[in-house]
Amino acid sequence: MQNKTLNLFKRARSENWAIGQFNISNLETLQAIIRAGRNLESPLIIGTSEGESKFLGLRQAVALVGAWREETGLPLILNLDHGKSFDYIKEAADAGYDAIHFDGSKLSLEENVRIAQKVVQYCHKRKVMVEGEIGFIKGSSEVLKKIPEIKEEDLTDPEEAEKFVRETKVDSLAINIGTFHGMDVSGRNPHINLGRLEEIRKKIGDKAFLVLHGGSGTPEEDVKKAIKLGIVKININTELRLAYTKALKKALEDNPEETTPYKYLAQAVEAVQKVVEDKIKLFGSANKI
Ligand code: 13P
Repeated sequence: MQNKTLNLFKRARSENWAIGQFNISNLETLQAIIRAGRNLESPLIIGTSEGESKFLGLRQAVALVGAWREETGLPLILNLDHGKSFDYIKEAADAGYDAIHFDGSKLSLEENVRIAQKVVQYCHKRKVMVEGEIGFIKGSSEVLKKIPEIKEEDLTDPEEAEKFVRETKVDSLAINIGTFHGMDVSGRNPHINLGRLEEIRKKIGDKAFLVLHGGSGTPEEDVKKAIKLGIVKININTELRLAYTKALKKALEDNPEETTPYKYLAQAVEAVQKVVEDKIKLFGSANKI
């Protein structure tokens, strides 16, 4: 991967702050994230899931992020989030993504290792950073009617995580320490299992950067402690989707006659920007460029 990206992750880990990954599927959300990063001088990871990138277009996402990078000079890393198939990962790497997350967490450990090795081999040749995953993270990035039950055995096993990192040489690792994708309607969200995080960090050491998924709604105190214990990247999606959708609905309700997108979308951009700025402050990544 690019030395600049690697150095950024190393710096975050040694200085105990984290880089936010903010997911997008449209132009305005990207614009909002960039505005927040620019205001607070923060590096940013822009994420697109397979679904989000299919809507936006892989090459189009690369071009958009590239244009913002050129204009702002911000460290912007474009990451494919939860890539499941090797073929799609290859497409993203070929299109110019800076990083990819291979999610083989539902596969057997052997199969997860086997495909991750293939992904690492393909991506590293092209200087693309690779994130693996051990310990399936439940839920999806929306407001959930029922929160998934997370049992002790769902959490990432430190031994398995170590074996996976050693055998695949992934750069970073998504771990299950109690979070899930999405948010509960009641606002109840999981506490992070900090003990498990400590055990994983002890086993992995500095061999891979640790990644927290399902960042939306996670209690702020837990997030701060998790960063102190070695989490270097935190993924946020649901809170952005919610802010965008709520603001857009309100703008249309307040102004039913309005038909000019850049007018009724302005409030959605502002709402997303606010969420991203709050996360940047929480993660400690402000003034780090
Ligand atoms: P949330 O939707 O819970 O923020 O999770 C996002 C995520 O982990 C993307 O990979």
